[in-house]
Amino acid sequence: MDLHKNKMETKMKFKKFVSSGIVAALTAGAFLSTSALAQKAWPNKSITLVVPFAAGGPTDSVARLIAVPMGQALGQTVVVENVNGAGGTIASTKVARAAPDGYTIYLHHMGMATANALYDKLPYDPMQDFEYIGQVADVPMVLLGKKDLPPNNFKELEAYIRANGSKVTMANAGPGAVSQLCGLLFQSRMGVKLTNIPYKGTGPALTDLLGGQVDLLCDQTTQTIPYIKDGRVKAYGTTTLKRLPAIPNVPTLDEQGLKGFEVKVWHGMYTPKGVPKPILDKLNAALKKALNTPDVKKRLEDANIDIVSPDKMTPNGLKNHLDAEINKWGPIIRKANIPD
Ligand code: MLT
Repeated sequence: MDLHKNKMETKMKFKKFVSSGIVAALTAGAFLSTSALAQKAWPNKSITLVVPFAAGGPTDSVARLIAVPMGQALGQTVVVENVNGAGGTIASTKVARAAPDGYTIYLHHMGMATANALYDKLPYDPMQDFEYIGQVADVPMVLLGKKDLPPNNFKELEAYIRANGSKVTMANAGPGAVSQLCGLLFQSRMGVKLTNIPYKGTGPALTDLLGGQVDLLCDQTTQTIPYIKDGRVKAYGTTTLKRLPAIPNVPTLDEQGLKGFEVKVWHGMYTPKGVPKPILDKLNAALKKALNTPDVKKRLEDANIDIVSPDKMTPNGLKNHLDAEINKWGPIIRKANIPD
């Protein structure tokens, strides 16, 4: 009797084991095909393009310019979300922690590399926590002054800031922003300390420069060319080694005595780590298509922005460049003694 009972129990356990195995196998199969289907169907809703600075600024403008044609290429709307603060590091943290489903993408500039040296401890690792879609564009910068700042050229500016020191105010978009990097490299090279005023982006900083509330700003050319041309701001020098075709009368800082002063703001597009490769490939193809749209090309050219070459517009092109830039800027920032 007991023997029979034991046999029955063993049989039932075996049946249970086999059927739970079948359920597990079926579940795994169903999961695999669901995730494969999800990738195939991607994108089936709008995609968020995170921008780490305020609306109306240079990064935001580049993002909005490419969001529309990228959305057209993908068949879904690409919605820009501005996540401001801490020189871009709040947005980078948010993207690093977002779901790796391809519905969060990220446009950031070289701050992705420089923040590493500016902050003691970042809550994300630029080389580990992201997938790379490709480089986007390189944007030059110009050292600008408010319209009624007394100096009319770089030589006069030099004398003015030596005479007035910390009474001179300089706007920036916080530690990790290129406006801060450019402004502090400038002060380091000049051996002066001005009063640095942080904003949530150079969009609002430029508004204050135009309104005369702040004296100086080192900004990208994305929005500034028309204001330079019509004299609403003063341009003291470009951060390029060659003069810019759109403003040929503005000398470089290099030719005016700051030898080798060069800050060219490269941009890259990222996703959180773990986005499946087929989705990354589609994003890369959409980015390439967007940057080759005649209207986008023309608008970038008007702002003296260079679209990168096709070899840089790739995941490896971006990853290798980011790695090289982290290594390049670390020693420069430490030598310039730029504070947090
Ligand atoms: C912005 O979009 O506001 C700028 O890129 C900020 C900066 O890095 O200076």
